Amino acid sequence: MAWIQFCLIAFLLPWIYMQINDDYDYFDYDRDVCRYMGRFYCQHSKKCTDREYVCDGFSNCKDHEDESPDFCSMDKCHQRGHYYCNISRICINTTRICDGILDCKEDGDESPPLCSMDNCSQRGNYFCSFSRKCISNNLVCNGVDDCGNYDDEYRTNCTRDDCFRRDRSLCNNGLCIPTDWLCDGKNDCFWGEDEKNTACSLRHQCESNRSTYYGCLGRCKPGYFGKYCSKKCSKKCLNGTCHKSSGICKDCTRTYLESCSQECGEECQERNGFPQCDRQSGKCLNGCNGFHYGHYCNNTCKNCKGNSSYSPCDINGVCQFGCENDYWDKNCNSKCSASCKGDEHGQRCNSSTGECINGCTRGWSGKLCLGKINVTKINRHTN
Ligand SMILES: *[C@@H]1O[C@H](CO)[C@@H](O)[C@H](O)[C@H]1NC(C)=O
Ligand SMILES: *[C@@H]1O[C@H](CO)[C@@H](O)[C@H](O)[C@H]1NC(C)=O
Ligand SMILES: *[C@@H]1O[C@H](CO)[C@@H](O)[C@H](O)[C@H]1NC(C)=O
Ligand SMILES: *[C@@H]1O[C@H](CO)[C@@H](O)[C@H](O)[C@H]1NC(C)=O
Ligand SMILES: *[C@@H]1O[C@H](CO)[C@@H](O)[C@H](O)[C@H]1NC(C)=O
Ligand SMILES: *[C@@H]1O[C@H](CO)[C@@H](O)[C@H](O)[C@H]1NC(C)=O
Ligand SMILES: *[C@@H]1O[C@H](CO)[C@@H](O)[C@H](O)[C@H]1NC(C)=O
Ligand SMILES: *[C@@H]1O[C@H](CO)[C@@H](O)[C@H](O)[C@H]1NC(C)=O
Ligand SMILES: *[C@@H]1O[C@H](CO)[C@@H](O)[C@H](O)[C@H]1NC(C)=O
Ligand SMILES: *[C@@H]1O[C@H](CO)[C@@H](O)[C@H](O)[C@H]1NC(C)=O
Repeated sequence: MAWIQFCLIAFLLPWIYMQINDDYDYFDYDRDVCRYMGRFYCQHSKKCTDREYVCDGFSNCKDHEDESPDFCSMDKCHQRGHYYCNISRICINTTRICDGILDCKEDGDESPPLCSMDNCSQRGNYFCSFSRKCISNNLVCNGVDDCGNYDDEYRTNCTRDDCFRRDRSLCNNGLCIPTDWLCDGKNDCFWGEDEKNTACSLRHQCESNRSTYYGCLGRCKPGYFGKYCSKKCSKKCLNGTCHKSSGICKDCTRTYLESCSQECGEECQERNGFPQCDRQSGKCLNGCNGFHYGHYCNNTCKNCKGNSSYSPCDINGVCQFGCENDYWDKNCNSKCSASCKGDEHGQRCNSSTGECINGCTRGWSGKLCLGKINVTKINRHTN
């Protein structure tokens, strides 16, 4: 082998492995490269691992090779403060006793006398009453008979609450299964009800507490409703959310009525980006935009004088700041008399009384300048 090839294999390749994969321990690569790097080579599993993992009480090679007598004698094991399984002939860290995972099959590191019921439960694991072994708490209520007699899946040990609390799901007969077993193409419940359409909705559209029989006992994900959360809320519902059983929108966008089918008045004042109106009546909830009034804000008070901070008219259309020039009356819907004289500001009449402020034009008299004067008479008198 040319030296350059050797370099490539000895240094570069392992380096590349390390760069591309944190898990490079698990690479099935050359024994020589492994040993050259001063690491430990697992013969059977063809794996390269660190020397410090040998005889540390944790198996790093598939078949416990690194914890077996070949590399880890009983004395060495004891010296390091670990437990030696006499029959299985492997070395285990004492934390592995009673941890719910069987390490020494024949010695029974998960059953009495090594692991008592109290030891097991003290460590938060589950002790099977009949088979008398300690299993991981995660295996309780997982739809699999881990104890050997359904002890861990039995109703008194795996209640509905236990099942829901673990975010798992109930079959019709009360068996508790992992939620991702619903609608996964494989029958897991006794009658296969975990593969019905409703179970698919249950898995994907229900937030919690799923039962193939009782439906979704938690909330539906936004946008869905119904027993199994299989129905879609109307698109008009605000954020697509609706009442779980009736499907009535929780809030509407720019619409109202139960089904959000009617438009709110265009001039209702907005909040959170939408004109807000009463769900039943459609009456505006926060008043009107400027120059509009009424419960539905569909009337205008266009002749009122405006004000930058306040609405120019009240809910009945009464102007709050007087009228624009040329109008008077409380709603500013009356025009000043055509015979009032205007001043330099264009003002002609008193906005509350309609009386002409600057007198009348020629030929008219009276406060409102509505009286006609007989011009011929005047002319004759003055002549
Ligand atoms: C056993 O494992 C635990 C957890 O990894 C560790 O803290 C402890 O030091 C180990 N015991 C011995 C004797 O190495
Ligand atoms: C394991 O074997 C050793 C040596 O034969 C013995 O002293 C020890 O008591 C045994 N331990 C168990 C748990 O059987
Ligand atoms: C089991 O519990 C007993 C009593 O509490 C204790 O002395 C013993 O060390 C425990 N064994 C294990 C493996 O935890
Ligand atoms: C599991 O249920 C059985 C039968 O009801 C009971 O005897 C046993 O104590 C329970 N086990 C646990 C760990 O609760
Ligand atoms: C779901 O079930 C758990 C356990 O029974 C319960 O505490 C929780 O209140 C339920 N949640 C809902 C939304 O029903
Ligand atoms: C609608 O969704 C937006 C964005 O997710 C959120 O900010 C808003 O509070 C939601 N509105 C309601 C009424 O739930
Ligand atoms: C304003 O809207 C209400 C409710 O839709 C309606 O009854 C009324 O006739 C409308 N008024 C005007 C002036 O359009
Ligand atoms: C609006 O009305 C308020 C209260 O009458 C008044 O203090 C304010 O000056 C007015 N603003 C304008 C721009 O007319
Ligand atoms: C309008 O008339 C009323 C009542 O006579 C009076 O109090 C008010 O000052 C007048 N307004 C103007 C702008 O002249
Ligand atoms: C105006 O006065 C003249 C003379 O008195 C009279 O003949 C005429 O009818 C009057 N016109 C009106 C509109 O009153």
